[in-house]
Amino acid sequence: MSRNRIANRKRILVTGGAGFLGSHLCERLLADGAEVLCVDSFYSGTRDNVRHLVSNPHFEVLRHDVTESLTVEVDEIYNLACPASPIHYQRDPIHTMKTSVFGAMNMLGLAKRTGAKILQASTSEVYGDPEVHPQIEHYWGRVNPIGLRSCYDEGKRAAESLFFDYHRMHGVRIKVPRIFNTYGPRMHPNDGRVISNFVVQSLNGEELTIYGEGSQTRSFCYVSDLIEGFVRLMATPDDVTGPINLGNPEEFTIRELAELTTELTGAAAAVRFLPLPSDDPVQRRPDIKRARDLLGWHPEIKLRDGLAKTIDYFRDVAGNAG
Ligand SMILES: NC(=O)c1ccc[n+]([C@@H]2O[C@H](COP(=O)([O-])OP(=O)(O)OC[C@H]3O[C@@H](n4cnc5c(N)ncnc54)[C@H](O)[C@@H]3O)[C@@H](O)[C@H]2O)c1
Repeated sequence: MSRNRIANRKRILVTGGAGFLGSHLCERLLADGAEVLCVDSFYSGTRDNVRHLVSNPHFEVLRHDVTESLTVEVDEIYNLACPASPIHYQRDPIHTMKTSVFGAMNMLGLAKRTGAKILQASTSEVYGDPEVHPQIEHYWGRVNPIGLRSCYDEGKRAAESLFFDYHRMHGVRIKVPRIFNTYGPRMHPNDGRVISNFVVQSLNGEELTIYGEGSQTRSFCYVSDLIEGFVRLMATPDDVTGPINLGNPEEFTIRELAELTTELTGAAAAVRFLPLPSDDPVQRRPDIKRARDLLGWHPEIKLRDGLAKTIDYFRDVAGNAG
């Protein structure tokens, strides 16, 4: 038995564990019987996201910034710490870059020392505004290195590069999923991401803001599907490193999403058009053949069903606040 294991439970570190995806991941890992250490600086995540887990004796929360080193004994690391929405990551772009780069180095150092497997939450933003559609993993991307989004996009690219160098130089066992737009309960209500924007605006009886003409497309993956992909990827043999796209290949225009949202909330379907922000990609859709082949994974939740659950969540939050 590994010295990291207590009564055969795997000890798993989730950085960014109090965020949207992290909180769902902690929940899933606990349900699977792991000891979970959630590390978070609460930069964009909240204690509320994990409040329902704190009574679980196998769950622990540590306030810590991943730009600083961390010494713990773990078997697996999911490195999710990083603000994910433009509003959050552009608030302090230098810290965002540090979080990606120093955070990756600190967590890779920990993985090297403990022999833990480590998964990096990478992103479809590494493809930038892509010339290749749908995006396949061997496409290198088209990212503006000096724009407002580059603290995030280039930070995540640098983190990937560090992951593969630690793997090649030190044999660290790495897993690199590239996550495409994911949504669901516990998304931040005002983080500027399109689904939370539309749902909150619609529930408040406000106009839905569409940037540009709304003809740009996105694909939306429901959170439980994504978490299933994470867990399957972590369980793969050591030669499966990724990068591997995880997302829903069903593509919708922003206008279609606005229509579906208003249909499901029952609100009046008024929209307001605003100018497109800089470096906003025109199209985004994952090619998930690699995930299908290597993980036997594909998303199961339809946008209509996932959106309905997300709307219920935001309704509850608004009800509790009011
Ligand atoms: N949600 C998506 O659609 C999506 C898409 C692509 C990639 N990702 C990646 O997945 C991860 C989680 O995203 P999310 O949507 O849950 O975002 P989120 O903002 O809800 O969660 C990120 C968490 O990391 C924490 N954090 C930020 N900087 C930190 C630091 N320096 N030290 C410690 N903790 C820190 C935040 O407080 C927050 O709890 C991120 O790495 C993000 O880049 C998410």
